[in-house]
Amino acid sequence: MDTTTYTAAATRYNAGMDYRRCGRSGILMSRFSLGFWHNFGSISNFDNAKAMMEAAFDRGITCFDLANNYGPAYGTAEETFGKLMDLSFRPYRDEMFVTTKAGYDMWDGPYGNWGSRKYLLSSLDQSLKRLHLDYVDLFYSHRFDPNTPLDETLGALVTAVHSGRALYAGISNYPVEAADYAYKFLKAHDTPCLCYQGKLNLLVRQHTRPGDILDLSADAGVGYAAFSPLAEGLLTDRYLNGIPADSRMARREHLTPDKLTPALLEQLHAFAKLAAARGETLAETALAWVLQDPRVTTVILGTSSVRQLDTNLRALRAAPITPAERAAIESTLTPQ
Ligand SMILES: NC(=O)c1ccc[n+]([C@@H]2O[C@H](COP(=O)([O-])OP(=O)(O)OC[C@H]3O[C@@H](n4cnc5c(N)ncnc54)[C@H](OP(=O)(O)O)[C@@H]3O)[C@@H](O)[C@H]2O)c1
Repeated sequence: MDTTTYTAAATRYNAGMDYRRCGRSGILMSRFSLGFWHNFGSISNFDNAKAMMEAAFDRGITCFDLANNYGPAYGTAEETFGKLMDLSFRPYRDEMFVTTKAGYDMWDGPYGNWGSRKYLLSSLDQSLKRLHLDYVDLFYSHRFDPNTPLDETLGALVTAVHSGRALYAGISNYPVEAADYAYKFLKAHDTPCLCYQGKLNLLVRQHTRPGDILDLSADAGVGYAAFSPLAEGLLTDRYLNGIPADSRMARREHLTPDKLTPALLEQLHAFAKLAAARGETLAETALAWVLQDPRVTTVILGTSSVRQLDTNLRALRAAPITPAERAAIESTLTPQ
């Protein structure tokens, strides 16, 4: 295990990262966040996780996105983060914006899933222990629970903030009507919703529709964190010529080979030509498409190497996508 002492790069805030205000709040978020869904759990290489997190911070990324059940195994991405807090990041805690979530299956029995007050608050207490933190910066309800009164779930977020376990509250994967209700409820309870976290990429564009989540959140003064901006790697050169042995699809971690249909593969080859015409890789153009939406606060990257991280950061300097390029790209890739 790499236990080398880490000193953050003195250049980290002049390394090309941009920061954007999260809704109508005091918080600036780095345009890219680092996500811990894959590649940070107990099955992954710790030294690689350490290298990626340190590289991210050195390049100006201040936002780190976790959830109770990230791994695999569940909980172990938070444990890796906790080890890295102790090894490398304790002196930098106040420069970091750390988020976690509860809402999906985490432990056995009736209290380890969905949106009850009991689940959310006990899960947050568990997360703080694994993360080796006294508080998280942002705690999300990870999904809308149709069987729990929304006031109960949102009330748990209010308690999380008012008890000092979290500085801000957020929601993820909520339908539009529930998000609208949540924004009003949280504001009325002195805990304005800081951020909505949603899936946004060239293959999943629902939130960009007029009146959908991006418009609703912008109007309400709530930020937006975009996840899976590369459709878990589909929107890169990773699968253009087969399924590499070291890829997420080969490991069948959520991304399964049936998602790479012949029709999609054909579209990806056409997209590769459009990206090349901009002098970019697929990943850079796909990320630029998300980053350049003015309603998006931060784009959460999932990377398996420092090399991927560095490629992806180049999207910050990508030329604006012209209306003609946008029309060509969006008509080439059919939303799924
Ligand atoms: N709120 C929610 O419900 C929710 C859901 C999902 C994710 N998230 C958050 O969003 C984060 C990002 O999600 P994601 O991991 O699905 O993001 P993503 O950016 O769509 O996919 C990341 C994967 O794409 C591949 N990749 C990345 N850059 C590449 C490059 N330059 N060239 C080739 N391949 C590249 C890597 O796969 P290989 O491993 O194959 O190299 C990487 O693991 C998560 O870590 C999590 O924090 C939140």
